[in-house]
Amino acid sequence: MTPEIIIAMDLPNKAAVEAFINKFPEGESLYLKVGMELYYKEGPAIVTYLKERGHRIFLDLKMHDIPNTVRSAMRSIASLGVDLTNLHAAGGKKMMEAAIEGLVEGTPEGQTRPQIIAVTQLTSTSKEVMNNEQGIPGEVAESALKWAKLSKEAGLDGVVCSVHEARSVHEACGEGFIALTPGIRLEGDDAHDQTRVATPKFGKEEGSTYLVLGRSITLAENPFEVYQKVQADIA
Ligand code: C5P
Repeated sequence: MTPEIIIAMDLPNKAAVEAFINKFPEGESLYLKVGMELYYKEGPAIVTYLKERGHRIFLDLKMHDIPNTVRSAMRSIASLGVDLTNLHAAGGKKMMEAAIEGLVEGTPEGQTRPQIIAVTQLTSTSKEVMNNEQGIPGEVAESALKWAKLSKEAGLDGVVCSVHEARSVHEACGEGFIALTPGIRLEGDDAHDQTRVATPKFGKEEGSTYLVLGRSITLAENPFEVYQKVQADIA
């Protein structure tokens, strides 16, 4: 299967979004990730703005709270008509189940509920940090897999994980379970703060469902050219 590309729009405001989108040909429908930076600045209006222009939206707010709060928050998110959203698996099974209930309750009549995936271990988390700061022993991949299995049990549609974990996630949770993989870098790109990076081609080989590309595209002189190059790499 060919993965789909999601562009992480880690941009400060709507003006920056407009400037970025304008670098793509008119009518090019994109899958865009709206994260905390942009959403906390512009609010739900940015989602509506992008949906009206024909783009799909992954609202990346990584919720982690008590089940009742997450349920209500997910109800609000579903009403925005986003395509995909997420939370932290570390919030536990009850919280994840409550999130799905909230999404179902908030989805307008006749529409399908947004898909929901769980963050396992952030791709910026190294083994040392996980072992010494989180107090979780073993390898990052083992912990990610444990969270993936719990997410599956809770009824989620998939997980956020690194490319290096995508294969084992599919083996444990099924091929249809989404493996959305950030930390994607083109050959020679700066890894920035990511520790577990991989190329788009390797992402495809390992079975990523969605490849999230942020700075490799957003910081490029010609984002559309990079976008097309990634598409060609995974075709
Ligand atoms: O710029 P870069 O390609 O590193 O962007 C990756 C994007 O994916 C960022 O928006 C980051 O917040 C997000 N992300 C991540 N690791 C996760 C979950 C989300 O890097 N585990």
